[in-house]
Amino acid sequence: MSGVETRWWRDAVVYQIYPRSFADSDGDGIGDVRGILAHLGHLEALGIDVVWLSPIYRSPQDDNGYDVSDYRDVDPMFGTLADLDELIAAVHDRGMKLVLDLVVNHTSDAHPWFMESRSSPSAAKRDWYWWRPPRAGMAAGVPGAEPTNWRSFFSGPAWELDDVSGEYYLHLFSRRQPDLNWEQPAVRAEVYSMMSWWLDRGVDGFRMDVINMISKDPDLPDGPVLGSGPYGDGSRAYLVGPRNHEFVQEMHREVFAHRDGRTMTVGEMPGVSIEDGRLFTDPARGELDMVFQFEHVDVDHGSGKWDPRPLELRDLKATLGRWQAGLADVGWNSLYWCNHDQPRVVSRWGDDGEHRIRSATMLATILHLHRGTPYVYQGEELGMTNVAFTSIEEFRDIEARNHYASAVGRGHDPAAVLTAMAPMHRDNARTPMQWDDSPHAAFTTGTPWIAVNPNFTTINGAAARADEASVFHHYRRLIDLRHTSDVVVHGDFEMRLADHPDVYAFTRTLGRESLLVLGNFSAAVQPIDGLEDWAGADVLLANTPAPDPLRAGLAPWEAVVLRRVG
Ligand code: NOJ
Repeated sequence: MSGVETRWWRDAVVYQIYPRSFADSDGDGIGDVRGILAHLGHLEALGIDVVWLSPIYRSPQDDNGYDVSDYRDVDPMFGTLADLDELIAAVHDRGMKLVLDLVVNHTSDAHPWFMESRSSPSAAKRDWYWWRPPRAGMAAGVPGAEPTNWRSFFSGPAWELDDVSGEYYLHLFSRRQPDLNWEQPAVRAEVYSMMSWWLDRGVDGFRMDVINMISKDPDLPDGPVLGSGPYGDGSRAYLVGPRNHEFVQEMHREVFAHRDGRTMTVGEMPGVSIEDGRLFTDPARGELDMVFQFEHVDVDHGSGKWDPRPLELRDLKATLGRWQAGLADVGWNSLYWCNHDQPRVVSRWGDDGEHRIRSATMLATILHLHRGTPYVYQGEELGMTNVAFTSIEEFRDIEARNHYASAVGRGHDPAAVLTAMAPMHRDNARTPMQWDDSPHAAFTTGTPWIAVNPNFTTINGAAARADEASVFHHYRRLIDLRHTSDVVVHGDFEMRLADHPDVYAFTRTLGRESLLVLGNFSAAVQPIDGLEDWAGADVLLANTPAPDPLRAGLAPWEAVVLRRVG
């Protein structure tokens, strides 16, 4: 096959399922594989091409499955391997593909590899993980004796002391997620063999969890101290470390190169630069098909995610515009507002009250008409909103719970900590899928593992599918446009009105055909100046009945797509 033919994912739209919150078939309150099987019609009606499942492997669930204890089995809470085989077949029968989450920066501490590694300093698999003695001159267990000053993403130090050997192991995430040592060829060989096993089983590719952290500078140097300390930021030693590209190239050669481009890969890469994004996705280098970058979802963070700031639209446009330009000739962008780690976008950057439908559809229009492969996170297509938790007991996420414990432990006011957490915490995205207005939104017949958002009585799939003006049908129209329009898939991107504080505007151009995409990020009417050359263009799509943006301005939260030829 030629290179272009094999890049089938360029006109595809991916739908992310967070299995534990999608649909529960057996009443235990946790979503499962058979629940997904029961709802494939919803995805087909939306026009989805690829389904990405967050981890369904065996796991102690310390981080909801991102802590894997057996890469070659399904956790009983989600079903069986036979159920997953059935899902793969059913997804394929409907003309869709299935992508699994690949979590190989770390395993669970309950993985047999780690149990062997921790059993003794002389264990054969000792070096499959990062073990280090205490800091020179300090006794094990004393605060500050950790081998480096790195802070874990989930609060506290990135090192855990093992009492048996008196050494520490590295965990960038929870202490139950020890980091694998990719310097070891045997680790890499095991990972590649497991990936091939899944692909041979019918899976179509992988979303690769923090794949830009797998290579560490083996010296593990201390990082600059964060705030008032005591921890430091070690990211210079592990974000796109010295051998990251080499490892991903090797993975490509071993796992994907002989599969005729039938697969799809997307690397999750917090902190990746545009330059590295290009290198990772340059087809000539044989690495990945696309990356998830994070710049645009960090624009409203202050000193971090727990220090939220109002969106400055110009910043959002500037960063997304840079990524569009940076990957224009070489490489490929993935496009997302939402996933299981991000708050709901309609609450974050739209208006989840009076203008919920209008703002959710505007945001969708802007995202989907960029150049790249769009991702829809479950419930985004319904305009699902953030949840209003009022006590820490309602939270389930380890990141939020650890942060709360750490902040309160340092003397912060508990109520203020909860207030600061509300806009950004990950449980916003993890409340159950709202299927209809029956009890628990028809997610489960049991007790849901996390509370259902009480707004399910009005915001739900049944209501949305029955209403042509819903968020669901707008997503369906956008997906259809990507499938039928070459300019949407391949057209050049040009940002317009870059300095406008409230209007997002850009053009897409392919040959003689051009689109002008306009979105109003405010509840005020926004006159449009500087685009007079578009007068008389046809309206291709809008989220309002009678758009006339160039003469009447953009209505509150309005999105309009104009098209012209010639
Ligand atoms: C990124 C995943 O998206 C997130 O949910 C998880 O907690 C970390 N990686 C660790 O695996």
